[in-house]
This record gives sequence, structure tokens and C-alpha cells, in this order.
Amino acid sequence: MAYQNRSAADWQRLDARHHLHPFTDPAVLARDGARILCKGDGVYLWDADGKRYLDGMAGLWCVNVGYGRTRLAKTMAQQAEELAYYNAFFMTATPAQAELAARIADLTPGALNHVFFGNSGSDANDSIVRTVWHYWRTLGQPKRRVFISRVHAYHGSTLTGASLGGWKNMHALGDTLLPGFEHIMPPYWYVFGGDLTPADFGLVAAEALEKKILEIGPDNVAAFIGEPVMGAGGVIVPPATYWPEVQRICRKYGILLIADEVICGFGRTGEWFGSQTLGIAPDIMTIAKGLSSGYAPISAMVLSDDVYRVLANGGEFAHGYTYSGHPVSCATALENIRIMEEENLVARVRDDIGPYFQLKLRSLSDHPLVGEVRGVGLLGGVELARNKATRTLFDPTLKVGAFCMNLAFERGVIIRAIRDVLEFSPPLIITHQQVDTLIDETRAILDAAAQQFAVT
Ligand SMILES: Cc1ncc(COP(=O)(O)O)c(C=O)c1O
Repeated sequence: MAYQNRSAADWQRLDARHHLHPFTDPAVLARDGARILCKGDGVYLWDADGKRYLDGMAGLWCVNVGYGRTRLAKTMAQQAEELAYYNAFFMTATPAQAELAARIADLTPGALNHVFFGNSGSDANDSIVRTVWHYWRTLGQPKRRVFISRVHAYHGSTLTGASLGGWKNMHALGDTLLPGFEHIMPPYWYVFGGDLTPADFGLVAAEALEKKILEIGPDNVAAFIGEPVMGAGGVIVPPATYWPEVQRICRKYGILLIADEVICGFGRTGEWFGSQTLGIAPDIMTIAKGLSSGYAPISAMVLSDDVYRVLANGGEFAHGYTYSGHPVSCATALENIRIMEEENLVARVRDDIGPYFQLKLRSLSDHPLVGEVRGVGLLGGVELARNKATRTLFDPTLKVGAFCMNLAFERGVIIRAIRDVLEFSPPLIITHQQVDTLIDETRAILDAAAQQFAVT
């Protein structure tokens, strides 16, 4: 190992002293110390004290084929020995890059055939913003600059990613919301739906896009971006009426439609891409996470033939990263896709474990704390509510969701909470029995939360 063998307490001390963690309050970290995770196998993780956790989140929505895959480790080692690095700037390419680009073009639906590689979902979305601006300028419409996104959307954490996203706490960090990034109401029936049926509300939420386009002026709008199912913002599954209408509106005003598939892609919803599950035909797609199952950092923006044709006449594409198409990451992604195909993981999510997980998750609906259960495939969200009948949420300062997430860790399962929504995104290899454990544990956690917050 490249690191020394120390005690958990020693690592916690080093970590708290020197490591600024993403999305963490440093004061709380300094007080409580990080959980030091050392090993993974299948759906399980082990910490430095040997405690085992069932990972109901696949890391951060990414370890789709599960932990401890020797094949992937060997592929990484082989590629690193053969050619650990070379760039794609100097009219050069490596075999893994070329093969992966072709593989992605094959897998993605429709005319999405042109792949630009990055290292993270965030930088892929940055690439998309620059590319889309370049696209409109090349077409002689330089005024088309505004991106429309949604409240609660998550599109990454770079300056552009955070501006595309609809998280107020991220915009507040350093006051970093860029101008020209607009956020409309999300298709979040439980909170915004009022007395409407979900189907009617889906149309109203889509109408918010048209209203925003008209407010800004159609000639100023560059693109609309959305996750097919909103992930980190609370596993928000739009009503069936939503996406067809959004798509119709984008086409009507000639606005590019971008599907951010960073979570939904690579089998999570029971198809290779969430766009296929939700019936979306995007002009551009963002992919990352499941592309390599998190074994190596890699992302991509995938452009349609029509978009690419414009760029092809736009002169030098003055954009790129040192690690665009990193050979080790590309080789890992290729092998990861091969594993997914050999083990039929996408069909497994669609036909077997996905429906089973959804059924079990929905069995929590009768719990006094559960307002709504949402999800598709192996993506799940449990919205906690103080009053189910009136769809009244808890006072956010009570941090009911965080209580559940912490208790889950204590009990040896990992689920995530955003606001008071519990989120689930287990590895695609999870077994029926492991789903049972995940849901049984969640019920026990909800019981404890109901007691703690006096809901009966
Ligand atoms: C939909 C979506 N887009 C973009 C990102 C950003 O990806 P990364 O964290 O790799 O930058 C995420 C991360 O969770 C995401 O869920």
C-alpha cells in the first residue's frame, strides 16, 4: 500500500487537521472525526475498525458494478504499464480513447455520436456550457447565452456546475451564481403540486419553462438542462406528462435540450440511459459516474450529429483538459461496460432487481413518517413528512433526514439524506436479500426517528 498502516484514530487526526472535505462542515468534522473506510467488496464496505456497511448509495451513485472487481483493477494496472498517460491535444489519440468513444456512441440513443472526455460530471457540464455558447456563436446567434435549469437540480460543483444547479446553499458559497443561469420550478409534485393531480402538475411544471423562455426572450436562450430523474436534489421522478411537454417546448423555440445523465446513465433506471426510460431525445448528454463505476475518474459530453456538424465548421475547438480521455480511465470504462453487458446488469435492473427494490421501498409508505416513496429502477427516494395527510414537511432545523442518515451508519447501512428525503442508489449487483436488509434497516431507522421526533 502507498500509505502507512495506522490506527483509525491516527487517520482521523491527520484527516481533520489537513483535509478539507467536500460538502462538510469543517467544525463538525474536527469535532466528530471522519469514518475511515478501507475496503470494499460487492455491496459492502469496511471501515478501519473492521465494521461492515451495506452501501445503499453505491458510493456517490456511481459504483454500479460493485466494489472489489479484480478485472477492473487488472485492467487499470495493465493500461498503466502499457501507457499510463498521453494527451489528446496534439492530433494524437490512444486506442482506449478511440474505442471508448465509439462504444459510447453505440450505447447512447439516437444521433448522439460525438464524445468529448472530461474527468468529472462537473467539468463535463462546464464543457457543455462553453460548447453550447460556441455552437450558437458559430451559427450566427451569439445572443443565445441563457441556460435554463431547475430548482433542486444538481449539475456539479465548479463555478458553472453550481450555477447550472439549483441549490441555494451552493449559490450562497461565496455568492457564486453566475448571471445568465435561470432556475424554474422542478417537477416535484409532493412539494409544489398543491391540489393538482401529478399529471396536471407535470404540465404546469413544463409550462414554467415556456414562461421563462418568453420572459427572457427566445432569441436569448441557449439551452435547457435537466436530469431525467432528479437525483441528488431528492430523487424527484417527474410525472409522465412532464418530459414530452418540455421537449416539445424546446423544439418549438429551437432551444438545445441537454440530459444530465451523470446519475441516471449506465443502467440506474433500467435502461442504459434515463433518457430512454423517460422518453427524452436530447441534443447533448452528460455522462460520468457509472461510466467507470467510479473505479477511475472519467466523464463525457456526448453531442448529436447536428450539434457536431456546426462545431465541425467552427474552427479550432479551444477547450480541453490534461486528463481528457485519460487512458487508464478509458480502459477502465471499457472493461466496466463489458462487465455490465456480460452480467446483463441493465436488464436485471429493468426486469428483476429494480421492480423488486421499488416494491420493497414502497412497502415503507405505511410508516407514519413517510410522506411519499418515489423511484425508478435502483433509484429511490423516501420523503419524510410531519403530516402525511396535509403533505406538511418537518421544520428543516430539526434535521430529521440527517438523524436517519447518521443512525444508518451506526447500524451498518449507508443511505443519504438531502433535506428530509432519504436517498437510495445501491450497486446494480445488489441481491434480493440485501435489498430486504436495506429496507428492514430503513424501517427500523424510521421507527427510531418517529420516536425521536414524536410522530406516531
Ligand atoms: C446529475 C449530476 N450532474 C453532475 C454531477 C457532478 O459530478 P461530479 O461530482 O463528478 O463533478 C453530479 C454529481 O452528483 C450529478 O448528480
